[in-house]
Amino acid sequence: MELDEIDTVGVVGAGTMGNGIAQVAASAGYDVVMRDVEQRFVSAGFDSIDDSLDRLVARDELTRREADSARDRIDGTTDLDDLADCDLVVEAVTEEMGVKQSVFTDLAETCGPETILATNTSTLSITTIASVVDRPERVLGLHFMNPVPVMKGVEVVVGEKTDEKTLALGHAFAEDLGKETWEADDKPGFVVNRILMPWINEGIRAYDEGVAEEADIDRGMTLGTNVPMGPLELADHIGLDVVLDASETLHEELGDRYQPAYLLKRKVAAGDLGKKTGAGFYKYD
Ligand code: CAA
Repeated sequence: MELDEIDTVGVVGAGTMGNGIAQVAASAGYDVVMRDVEQRFVSAGFDSIDDSLDRLVARDELTRREADSARDRIDGTTDLDDLADCDLVVEAVTEEMGVKQSVFTDLAETCGPETILATNTSTLSITTIASVVDRPERVLGLHFMNPVPVMKGVEVVVGEKTDEKTLALGHAFAEDLGKETWEADDKPGFVVNRILMPWINEGIRAYDEGVAEEADIDRGMTLGTNVPMGPLELADHIGLDVVLDASETLHEELGDRYQPAYLLKRKVAAGDLGKKTGAGFYKYD
């Protein structure tokens, strides 16, 4: 398959990452089918897309007409069979191996044999996900960053059996969405989360151990190293449950230096997951 043969893109999961991927694919001119298991999740995905497109129009990055036509190119569904005609599918469901493998098993049955199957996993093994399908050579990682419409980077992850054509197509597709790519081997956390997760956990530990107040940990890192967000603010932005899941996978695979911070576990247990629940290390309206 070549880039110009990709007309229709499927996205499985209409959450933060899935709806962002659907939006940028539609903005680049692809027809998109966005699927989630319940209509209320699909509707919430469209609400986020509408909000994001409005913000891009307000910033003059898109015209109203471009935003409306991108929106019109996205179909929402709860039926996986509606992805049958997709040329490339990006899976962006919850970070659980069993759930991802089950989606990939269904996709391999539903989609044609040529369809490229990508996963947006942030830490799980591409090779293990691909092991349940009949075309592991056409499976790769396309790891988008949150918020997808704003962040320029996409990590292209190479599974044990991913072939060169699929890899080249992964880069070309992401670039066609206006992104820049880098490549990572299928090792836990790839490039970004292997380095980001210990940074965030160390920020949480520094706060918990009384090195500085929340805001001063974040100010120290933003003013001191020019990153746009400090570790606690970024953890709230990503979602503390997502950070904990990723940290636990890294800990399991790479050992003690990846141990999640105790306070991270405690906040997740309390249901304070960051911006999306109104409280994490900070409070939100
Ligand atoms: N859609 C469209 N526009 C958006 C948007 C979205 N989803 N989110 C933010 N924006 C826009 C805002 O409307 C705003 O526009 P104006 O400047 O015109 O007001 C602009 O982006 C900047 O936003 P804010 O003023 O709200 O705040 P900010 O200046 O702090 O920028 C940010 C927000 C872009 C998120 C920036 O803080 C940032 O880059 N933070 C770091 C994000 C990051 O590291 N993401 C990667 C996380 S790791 C990951 O995703 C991988 C993983 O597996 C966990």
